[in-house]
Amino acid sequence: MTFFTHRDGQLCVEGVPLGRIAESCGTPCYVYSRAALEAAYHAYDQSLARRDHLVCYAVKANSNLAILNIFARLGSGFDIVSGGELARVLKAGGDPRKIVFSGVGKTVAEIRAALEAGILCFNIESASELTRLNRIAGEMGKIAPVSLRVNPDVDAQTHPYIATGLKENKFGVPFEDALALYRAAAGMPNLLVHGIDCHIGSQLTEIPPFVAALQKLLGLVDQLDASGIKISQIDIGGGLGIRYRDETPPPVAEYIKALSVCLGDRKQRILLEPGRSLVGNTGILLTRVEYLKHGAERNFAVVDAAMNDLMRPALYDAWHDIQPVRPRQGTTRRYEVVGPVCETGDFLGHDRELHLEEGDLVAIISAGAYGMSMSSNYNTRGRATEVMVAGEEFHVIRSRETFEQMIATEKILP
Ligand code: LLP
Repeated sequence: MTFFTHRDGQLCVEGVPLGRIAESCGTPCYVYSRAALEAAYHAYDQSLARRDHLVCYAVKANSNLAILNIFARLGSGFDIVSGGELARVLKAGGDPRKIVFSGVGKTVAEIRAALEAGILCFNIESASELTRLNRIAGEMGKIAPVSLRVNPDVDAQTHPYIATGLKENKFGVPFEDALALYRAAAGMPNLLVHGIDCHIGSQLTEIPPFVAALQKLLGLVDQLDASGIKISQIDIGGGLGIRYRDETPPPVAEYIKALSVCLGDRKQRILLEPGRSLVGNTGILLTRVEYLKHGAERNFAVVDAAMNDLMRPALYDAWHDIQPVRPRQGTTRRYEVVGPVCETGDFLGHDRELHLEEGDLVAIISAGAYGMSMSSNYNTRGRATEVMVAGEEFHVIRSRETFEQMIATEKILP
């Protein structure tokens, strides 16, 4: 986290001390580093430089318009899973011809919007979806480019909620059915078979499952080729993990190298759909200690961020480092770092050794991915402010949600 360093006793994002941001924007507040985002993108882009490739940022990881716009300016493509994400990418200046559309439940309206926009490819997840897409494209007088998302049945060895590549998961089409489905797709007049796709899970910290999945995909590509179906694009999905605590995920370059060895001298265009590894370690959640409760059994630090702001600890028992913005000298205590939401599951960290005083600022680390994008209004809490740091400057890229905004579409009966 070289873009997050201590200077004069205070944690800074690039050249900006977090205390300054808290003073001006209040807390809780997500703070991102533009330089970190750009470095993360370049790591992918440069590792793939010798192949025809497209990095499609998985928008769900963090869909703030400013972040999408930064990636768009770098030439990134996008992996979307809803009409809302499509609209966001277009609004942020993303190129529709660099958008792939994943997801098991694309609605008629979403398919229409994507065809209208002229996206690069639909990642198809079922036989019914293929039929639906063919029908809608026909009605609109368009040809829809498709990849089949094949489920390679490999164990991603990650949290069961975020593993997607096993037979028992709802994602993709079963490997055994893929050939027949490709034949069916090739026979549908309004579809153009474009590629093959997979995504086996998220927060993977080892290379072998990726390689196993890719090998299975390539076997299928060859079989298809032999039966006259040419695949011009291979989408390997996302899923590369990041370090939250003591994980040791491979660096992007190593991961790409392993894939590249597997691909050999194949000429197809390579797509990737990274989310977490592009944004996870580019942001923190800044929060303030409201109360300290020291008890016989446990000590609680009640902060002003909660599970509605960062759901990952409550949902997956995920571990995020928690660092004081201005570390204090002296003895620490063991704290449960919790939010104000009325649920026992509302915690941000268990058993953290910290020296805190009421009013202190703390940073929840590695909160750039699946933080803000999974936030909610639970307990009628307005969503947090988001700030982008660029060098010595910072910009509010989303203002704190007001009560009026929260209730804007609600109505009382006459
Ligand atoms: N492509 C597809 C089709 C996906 O479903 C996902 C993530 C990605 C790409 C991006 O995966 P990544 O590179 O970020 O691992 N909320 C969970 C993670 C859910 C991931 C869902 N799919 C978390 O906070 O850990």
